Amino acid sequence: MLGRLNHVAIAVPDLKAGIAVYENMLGATVTAPQAEPDHGVTVVFVELANTKIELLEPLGDNSPIQAFLDKNTSGGVHHICYEVDDIIAARDKLKSQGARVLGDGEPKIGAHGKPVLFLHPKDFCGTLVELEQV
Ligand code: CO
Repeated sequence: MLGRLNHVAIAVPDLKAGIAVYENMLGATVTAPQAEPDHGVTVVFVELANTKIELLEPLGDNSPIQAFLDKNTSGGVHHICYEVDDIIAARDKLKSQGARVLGDGEPKIGAHGKPVLFLHPKDFCGTLVELEQV
């Protein structure tokens, strides 16, 4: 079912400071900030040869990453994203095995313009998992 690792997402309290760490200290290429009001985040991508790191900053009052940042005040790894060929087939197979899909269970369009779903961390080794159909 699983394809490649698409990205690792890190929640940060201050996106400008996070960009500076990756651009200036680590010498990486970072994309321009992109507001994603539907997901309650502003996002940039750190472009690596084999994958991406997504830096997420809360956007708006009900950001889904705010509670995580309240607990992890310096920021932290928030989720990992795996690629799948067919997100509906993957969802249905996981649900049939008892896994919980977050939200209404229907894919939303993610930051790359592709359908995404999030899976409950308690069902996946304590890690929030995003599936992206590629
Ligand atoms: Co993501």
